[in-house]
Amino acid sequence: MSDLPNIVVLISGSGTNLQAIIDAVRSGDIPARISLVLSNRPEVKGLERARQAGIETKVLDHTEFTSREAFDAEMIRQIDRQQPDLVVLAGFMRILTGDFVRRYEGRMINIHPSLLPKYRGLHTHQRALDAGEPEHGVTVHFVTEELDGGPNIIQAVVPVQPDDTAETLAQRVQVHEHLIYPLAVKWFTEGRIRLTQGEVTLDGTPLPPGGCLLDSRD
Ligand code: GAR
Repeated sequence: MSDLPNIVVLISGSGTNLQAIIDAVRSGDIPARISLVLSNRPEVKGLERARQAGIETKVLDHTEFTSREAFDAEMIRQIDRQQPDLVVLAGFMRILTGDFVRRYEGRMINIHPSLLPKYRGLHTHQRALDAGEPEHGVTVHFVTEELDGGPNIIQAVVPVQPDDTAETLAQRVQVHEHLIYPLAVKWFTEGRIRLTQGEVTLDGTPLPPGGCLLDSRD
């Protein structure tokens, strides 16, 4: 075992964000190791990505549990065995219980495909298009008990094009997801970002409410 910070990643699907983080760990850009990738769905692409990188995987199929509480309790058991410094939700599409969220408060982060606090929940790209938004984007935030509501760490802004569909917009947003998620994980594992009394600091300085901003129009 190394002294590097230890990360557990939770996924439900294709795992492109997981891949971006694996690549950044491999290149040495993120000074950490990923000890476990846990999926609530069997046979998803993200599990294959983890196995190919030599990372331990675990499937906990939520449909085999009688309640959300029972599922989250087993997830806690599996995660705590790894004693992680950071829990990364990378396309993990389950609502979490308060007990689960409180247990990892300040050391659990999520990526959500909108400029939070706008468009919490699902179908964010279509909703942004329907509302005629000139710009859309993606947010990495600390996870709190409020769904998609935790304090922001970093956002990337993506201009909406006149001929965008939900698919084309999602593709451009994903390119930015793969930039800002590894960056946020890097900052956390380097001890640069912290959640203190509901406020995020970077190098000790409080961030504005939106978090750091990566603006692709710059
Ligand atoms: C990503 O687009 C992520 O932003 C989104 O799921 C996708 C997972 O893709 N997350 C959410 O909607 C969370 N509310 P990936 O499995 O290829 O990383």
